[in-house]
Amino acid sequence: MAVTDDIKARVDIVDVVSQYVPELKKSGRNFTARCPFHQERTPSFVVFPDRQSWRCFGACAVGGDVFSFVMKADGVAFPQAMRSLAERAGVVIPERRRADTPRNPIFDVNEAALRFFRDELTADRGALARSYAERRHLGLEAIVTFGIGYAPSSGGELLKRLGEAGFAEELLLAAGVVIRGQNGEVRDMLRGRLVFTLRNADGEVVGFAGRSLDGTDPKYINTPQTAVFDKGRMLYGFDRAKDAIAREGVAVVVEGYTDVITAHEHGYANVVASMGTALTDEQVALLRARAHRIVLALDADAAGQEAMRRRLWAVAESVTGSGAPAWARERSGDLSRWGVVTLQGGKDPDEIIRADPGSWKTLVAEPTPILDYLIEAESARGGLTAEEANAPTVQRFWRLIAELSDWAAQDRLVQRLADRLGVGRTTLEAAMGRMASRAQIGRPQAGRGRARGREAPEGAVESVLRTAGREPVEEHALALALQYPEILARVGEAQADRFVRPDNRAILSALQEAGTIEVAHAQADGPMAEHLDQLSRRVLPPADPKQRAAEWTECLRRLEERYLRDLKEQETIALTEQAPGDEEYREAVSRQALDTNERLRDLFTGETAKP
Ligand code: UTP
Ligand code: MN
Repeated sequence: MAVTDDIKARVDIVDVVSQYVPELKKSGRNFTARCPFHQERTPSFVVFPDRQSWRCFGACAVGGDVFSFVMKADGVAFPQAMRSLAERAGVVIPERRRADTPRNPIFDVNEAALRFFRDELTADRGALARSYAERRHLGLEAIVTFGIGYAPSSGGELLKRLGEAGFAEELLLAAGVVIRGQNGEVRDMLRGRLVFTLRNADGEVVGFAGRSLDGTDPKYINTPQTAVFDKGRMLYGFDRAKDAIAREGVAVVVEGYTDVITAHEHGYANVVASMGTALTDEQVALLRARAHRIVLALDADAAGQEAMRRRLWAVAESVTGSGAPAWARERSGDLSRWGVVTLQGGKDPDEIIRADPGSWKTLVAEPTPILDYLIEAESARGGLTAEEANAPTVQRFWRLIAELSDWAAQDRLVQRLADRLGVGRTTLEAAMGRMASRAQIGRPQAGRGRARGREAPEGAVESVLRTAGREPVEEHALALALQYPEILARVGEAQADRFVRPDNRAILSALQEAGTIEVAHAQADGPMAEHLDQLSRRVLPPADPKQRAAEWTECLRRLEERYLRDLKEQETIALTEQAPGDEEYREAVSRQALDTNERLRDLFTGETAKP
């Protein structure tokens, strides 16, 4: 979920506005006050809690969401408004390194270490590693792009080289490339191993993994946790896979480093590896933000086992956010986007792809949805008989199924669960229904007066769900402007408040103000910068300049239509559901409603007049 969606789910616009406008008071389902943005005697400023929006029906005739309110009220730009709302909501904004913030010197150590490992692979003493790499069919390109190298066995060479390069021993220890042994002696972390480079999502070197060449245990030694490396926060190969994942909408998660490299070598660029552990919440978030479908490729031998079942439960619950309050979950239907495939015959993806590259595509094309998979796995081990002892497992499934937004999937899974339990569907539903109604008690009441910022009102959750995720029309328009100068020249035609996603809105404003893409990039930071990057790189369908211009116009028309329809709805609510306001207010709203009707009509007659 975008940070902005997260914030929207957690702050209540009524709370925020009342801090600026203490006189805001309830009137029907909404709240009204005199507009803080212009002088007026009678209130024409309305806050709609259900829609989490605000509007002035008086002289200024503007409106928007909680972000635009704070921007206007504080007179700040989007990034500042986002930061202050994030703080209020307790949402952590992922930091992105900016050109002017110093980068952690550990990255420099790692870059230097990578150069060393590379040199060593081509040196005389790297012969054994080279022949190993050859035996594993690691091609030259993979060796270069993935950063494969060799750590010599003497155990002091890296320390020596980096020391000579001027790095302090303390820094080398902090980077984890050398370690202090029990006798106090400092030596290289990796000795006599083939080296795999670990990079973060931006492609920066965060650490290394060394594979044993002679069967010594452990098979892999990884960089310990450092200031820049936390294996639970990264996925191997993600830096090279993230664009393909976003483009294809599908991510495949495998187990091993070599599996990723082989997949990429064969054109399967959407493959990443977990780092030898269950997927963490952070790893799940990386994938979920980019992929519509996520496929977990499991070794068939391990798939049925206790440890793997636990890992799958962890993934399912992390995706659904069970345990977290309902409003804090992302899209509840997400779990139907996760599937499992099992690799038969004890083969790993590396071997499967090398033996028959085409078979991989078929294999991952039709994964078993993760919940179906888990139900079968639990059933197979006898954990789904209708016995008291199994009740917690059944309840666990029920909670996950209940969260699915895909009703067909929900229906199928309830049936499957009932079948495996050997009970009728209605029996299961009745039993779980009792459970659910007990769970309702003690749920926090929505509305004002509750703990600030933490629990969103029901209406807010719905409005966020409606706008969560992508806004294809907005994004297409922005991608056109970012990628084609002739469209960029027309950004002035667009109006920021027609964009419902705050970060899209901010990007448009930045482009309009800056006039050039470079300046807009330089001004962006945090999640906005990342979004900007993605849009700039989005692959657009081929089109000639005329088609592009037409697409741009059509995008703006569709956004305008949505805006006007929304405005009309607000006006209707303001007139009908409002406690009877005074004449002046009603007149102002009615006047604006007439105007909106006219604009909508123009929009359509404009369309029919087009060739
Ligand atoms: P595998 O044992 O499947 O190794 O471990 P692999 O990557 O396929 O390597 P090859 O093909 O035998 O050379 C899967 C992953 O588990 C983690 C690593 O991330 C590895 O890629 N792992 C495994 C460790 O971190 N340490 C270990 O000792 C073993
Ligand atoms: Mn392997």
